[in-house]
Amino acid sequence: MKILVTGGAGYIGSHTVKMLHERGDEVVVFDNLVYGHEEAVAGRAKLVEVFKGNKFDGCIHFAAYCAAGESVANPAKYFENNVSGSVNLLKTLVKYKVERLVFSSSCSVYGQPKTIPVSEKESKKPESPYGESKWMTERIMEWFGKAYGLKSIALRYFNASGASPDNEIGDEAKPATRLIPIAIEKLLGQGGKFILNGTDYPTPDGTCIRDYIHVMDLADGHLKALVYLEKQSKEKGVFEAFNLGTGKGNSNKEVIKMTERVSGKKLEYQTGPRRPGDPAKLWADNRKARKVLGWKPKYGLKEIIETDWRWHSTHPKGYAK
Ligand SMILES: NC(=O)c1ccc[n+]([C@@H]2O[C@H](COP(=O)([O-])OP(=O)(O)OC[C@H]3O[C@@H](n4cnc5c(N)ncnc54)[C@H](O)[C@@H]3O)[C@@H](O)[C@H]2O)c1
Repeated sequence: MKILVTGGAGYIGSHTVKMLHERGDEVVVFDNLVYGHEEAVAGRAKLVEVFKGNKFDGCIHFAAYCAAGESVANPAKYFENNVSGSVNLLKTLVKYKVERLVFSSSCSVYGQPKTIPVSEKESKKPESPYGESKWMTERIMEWFGKAYGLKSIALRYFNASGASPDNEIGDEAKPATRLIPIAIEKLLGQGGKFILNGTDYPTPDGTCIRDYIHVMDLADGHLKALVYLEKQSKEKGVFEAFNLGTGKGNSNKEVIKMTERVSGKKLEYQTGPRRPGDPAKLWADNRKARKVLGWKPKYGLKEIIETDWRWHSTHPKGYAK
C-alpha cells in the first residue's frame, strides 16, 4: 500500500513509519518539523508537501500539537492547527479520493471518566482545548463519512511510551514531558528536579494510575486499523473509535520503582501537590480493539521502561549528533 503519514517525523508517527516500511508499504511523510525530526524517518520515507503526483491508499494523521497544559493557555493555537488543519486534510483526502483515514485521538476526550476501565461508550467531556480538539476532529470525521463516504477510525491512545526495541528511534521530546522519560533523564543526571505530583489520591499507594502503552503496540494498532478499513464497504462511509491501551494501570510509584529496577539506580525525587484536572485512575477497556481489529498489546511496563532506558542512555542528545 501507499500510505500518507502526517506528523510522521514525530514520536509515535516515526515508529509507525518504521513498521509500515518494514512491512513493505510505500510511505510518504508530511511533517512541518515543528517538533518532528527528519532523522527519525530517513531512508524509510520521503518528505513531501503535496498530494499531486501521489495516489494514496490511505492516510494516518498524527500531525497535531499535543501539550494539554499549553492548550489551556493558548486554545487558538490548538483549534487552528489540530481542528482547522484536520478539516483541510479531510477535504484534501476527499478531493484526491483517499478513502481510508486513521486518526490519532486520545483518552483525553473522556476527561474525568465515571467508569474505570474506560470504554469507548464513556461520555466525552474533555478538560482541555487539546482534548476538545481531538473530540471535535472525531465528530468531523464521522460527518465526512456520512456526506462523502470517507472511511475513518479514531484511535484513542492512552499513555504512549517506550522506544523501538532495536534502539533505532525513540522519544525525542526535549525537555521530556512524559513521566517515564522525565524519570529516566533524572536518573541519567540530565534533568532538573523530579517532582512527584499528588500523593493523596484515592489509590492504593496514593499516586495516580495510568495505562502505559508501548509505541510499537500503538504502531501495530494503526496497521490493523488500515486493514479493517480496507475491508469495509464505502457505500455509506465508516467511522469507528477504539481505545488503545493495555487494559492495566500502573501507579506513578510503580513506574518509579520499575525505572529504578531497570536502571539499577535510585531516583531522588520530591513530592508536590496534585496537578489540576489529573484523574486519579485511568486505564482502558481495550476489548473492542482486540475483538474488532484483532489487536493485542505485546509489551508491558518492564519492556516499555527497558526500551526507553536504552534509547535515552545511548542517545543523550536525541537525534542530534
Ligand atoms: N504521546 C502521547 O502520549 C499521545 C497520546 C494520545 C494521543 N497522541 C496524539 O498522537 C499524535 C502524535 O503524538 P506524538 O507524541 O508523536 O507527538 P509529536 O509532537 O512527536 O508528533 C507530532 C508531529 O506532528 C508534526 N506537526 C504538528 N503540526 C503539524 C502541521 N500542521 N503540519 C505538519 N506537521 C505537523 C510535528 O512536527 C510532529 O512531528 C498527536 O496527534 C497526539 O495528539 C499522543
